[in-house]
Amino acid sequence: MSSHDQALKMTAHKSGPLIGQAQIPGDKSISHRALIFGAMAIGETKISGLLEGQDVLDTALAMRAFGADVIQHGPGSWSVHGVGVGGFKEPETVIDCGNSGTGVRLIMGAMATTAVAAVFTGDASLCKRPMGRVTDPLALFGARAYGRSGGRLPMTLVGAGHPLPVRYALPVASAQVKSAVLLAGLNAPGQTVVIEPEATRDHSERMLLGFGAQLHVEQSAEGNVITLTGQPELRAQSVAVPRDPSSAAFPVCAALLVEGSDITVPGVSQNLTRNGLYLTLVEMGAQISFDNPRLEGGEPVADLRVRFSDQMRGVEVPPARAPSMIDEYPILSVVAAFATGKTFMRGIKELRVKESDRIDAMARGLEACGVVIEEDEDSLIVHGNGMGSVAGGAICKTHIDHRIAMSFLVMGLAANKPISVDDASPIVTSFPIFESLMGALGAKLTRD
Ligand code: S3P
Repeated sequence: MSSHDQALKMTAHKSGPLIGQAQIPGDKSISHRALIFGAMAIGETKISGLLEGQDVLDTALAMRAFGADVIQHGPGSWSVHGVGVGGFKEPETVIDCGNSGTGVRLIMGAMATTAVAAVFTGDASLCKRPMGRVTDPLALFGARAYGRSGGRLPMTLVGAGHPLPVRYALPVASAQVKSAVLLAGLNAPGQTVVIEPEATRDHSERMLLGFGAQLHVEQSAEGNVITLTGQPELRAQSVAVPRDPSSAAFPVCAALLVEGSDITVPGVSQNLTRNGLYLTLVEMGAQISFDNPRLEGGEPVADLRVRFSDQMRGVEVPPARAPSMIDEYPILSVVAAFATGKTFMRGIKELRVKESDRIDAMARGLEACGVVIEEDEDSLIVHGNGMGSVAGGAICKTHIDHRIAMSFLVMGLAANKPISVDDASPIVTSFPIFESLMGALGAKLTRD
């Protein structure tokens, strides 16, 4: 999906109560990793609940290009015959990761310590995003990157023929960078060490252990010190992908804001490195219960019940919580507009290098809908005036960003006048059934 040829305008209208059950698709982060680790294992990895969003489909194609046999058996049901650690072949064509920063950064890590060259590209959004944060540590292993100015795609990466293990302290809290280094460390001899000052999503560590790698995590004054022993034989696994808490956030927040709503959202991952939004919503006064907590596919999950919550208050979101809700600030800023009082979101400058500059995209759209905001390089403050206070009546720009599109569509379900987005097509990257799922709950979404 590298070209972005057809914009899809969509409008959300004030809706009656959202009622019913929302079956959220599989987690995007875990889906990418299941395909990549499966491709680096020996034997057949079976995956159930794989997210069939465009981002993940692009990673599946990439794994085929590197030599793995990736087969779809039915909805969400896939298998990967891996080539083993160090077994990647050189792709014959350009690897197009579409819209996916996770896809390109993890795949670069996975190939960086094998003596093959690959050319990576993506859509207009991905080609603006910084890749130096990954290619810098990959250079320490011996890989060489040749990209455009500012370390941007398209880019050629030449994997190291004689890789060295590295010790790398992450300069930004990024699970993508951490994972790229760990993936590269798989084919380096000796021990690769990654130090993360702030805990970020830990799916790669969990999956590495599941596939039989030797990895241990120690907490120290510097943060989490993750040590991986290189050149293991990864053993194929069965991976059951839990439902995505970042996608669940959209129907959950819609139900909080639309009068009379009462929905259930079963089996949503409650991994502590991902649940910051849910903690914040509860602090704001959201009526959410977390029922039947259990483990599914090695991840903690719960069944959520969410009811319309007309007494939500603005809060100060602790900056230390940012890594566990990094993708949820756009939808939180929508909820904040309907709460009473100011919501302070600080320590969020990473949002400026996501699929779009998410601070700017949200600030402009909120203002267009009549919401007062304050913004600086590293923060967004939303002045909430309570339920019924959001005017709406604007067309918001999505900048090829699925989460911006879904956030403003959720806002339109509770605003006084309809809210349109100029382009809802990027939603297919992470939540291809968003429109039908929301419609089945009672959301009024129209294509214009
Ligand atoms: C992801 C990590 C996060 C997140 C992205 C998925 C991952 O990015 O925003 O949607 O799967 O590792 P950063 O590592 O850039 O914070």
